[in-house]
Amino acid sequence: MTHKLLLLPGDGIGPEVMAEAEKTLRALKEIGIASFETERDLVGGCAYDAHKVAITEDAMRRAEEADAVLFGAVGGPKWDKVGYDVRPEAGLLRLRKDLGLFANIRPAICYPALADASSLKREVVEGLDIVILRELTGGVYFGEPKEIVTLENGDKRAVDTQVYTTPEIERIARVAFELARKRRNKVTSSDKRNVMKSGVLWTNTVNALHQAEYADVKLEHQLADALGMQLVRWPKQFDVIVTDNLFGDMLSDVAAMLTGSLGMLPSASLGAEDKKSKKRKALYEPVHGSAPDIAGKGLANPIAMIGSLAMCLRYSFGLGEAADALEKAVANVLASGLRTKDIAAPGANAIGTTGMGDAVVTELRRTLK
Ligand code: IPM
Ligand code: MN
Repeated sequence: MTHKLLLLPGDGIGPEVMAEAEKTLRALKEIGIASFETERDLVGGCAYDAHKVAITEDAMRRAEEADAVLFGAVGGPKWDKVGYDVRPEAGLLRLRKDLGLFANIRPAICYPALADASSLKREVVEGLDIVILRELTGGVYFGEPKEIVTLENGDKRAVDTQVYTTPEIERIARVAFELARKRRNKVTSSDKRNVMKSGVLWTNTVNALHQAEYADVKLEHQLADALGMQLVRWPKQFDVIVTDNLFGDMLSDVAAMLTGSLGMLPSASLGAEDKKSKKRKALYEPVHGSAPDIAGKGLANPIAMIGSLAMCLRYSFGLGEAADALEKAVANVLASGLRTKDIAAPGANAIGTTGMGDAVVTELRRTLK
């Protein structure tokens, strides 16, 4: 069986880390795990430079047709002044919305070898294994109206709209409960019900679904501000955290630093299961951005991208064992002491992007052979 992948490397360090994912794909093919057919296209600033849009209709069609999309990163100072509708991020947001990728899974795992790379104390983060499940196609990211208008007196007024419906909350909560059942059976739901109506509906809907279908899962609620505090105080209290689009964006960056570096966090964005084919539309991307400051220097950490590929093997291609092997290879390489600059101790030796990719692939071949 051949798996069809669309590669969208994007801007900044995107192409550099994507090259390491491709290296990994070639190795998996050579070892005989599976065969992959890859296409590539532009997204973000590079798409704007070539076509004056953040993603073309043609690229959207290819994304719809692929079994999965691998995404690098978008954006950079070069495009700071382009129109709002064609800014690099618009390409990513359109992919999420049009493919219906409502469930964004962001695992935060702290490898023991990296506990000292975190800015938190070793005992706080060592062995951490939590998932932030972020609602990805609703909330204030897409709510209408979304505008800046000029008032009669010449002042300006900006509006973003936070909006959620019960089905939107229910389907993401369902993913949270299902995920938790396969893990440590605990869900923490987060919103701001003390000030937001959408938070009240969020809490009530999660509670109702819990009572009706998932009473065996331990459920608790934490307000989003308090959850941010608890994440840096004692993150190991969590298993699956489910929250809305905006809080999930912020909290997943916080969670990333618990693992040592933003360069470590992979993510999967999944759509609803198609009743007939049982397939889900899916996009896999590292949580880090385009990091323009280090782009083109070969310094970027490819582990979040490689980890995103592992999630793709697991969730889209049914290659759970290969995914486990790839994640184990990353853990072994880290345990051996190899580090990119972002996770190295100050002044310690560091390897570059390709060096890290090579090390992971060598270790993968050793374990899978
Ligand atoms: C993320 C990013 C995006 C977001 C940006 C690039 C639009 O920060 O995936 O977390 O805000 O969702
Ligand atoms: Mn973000």
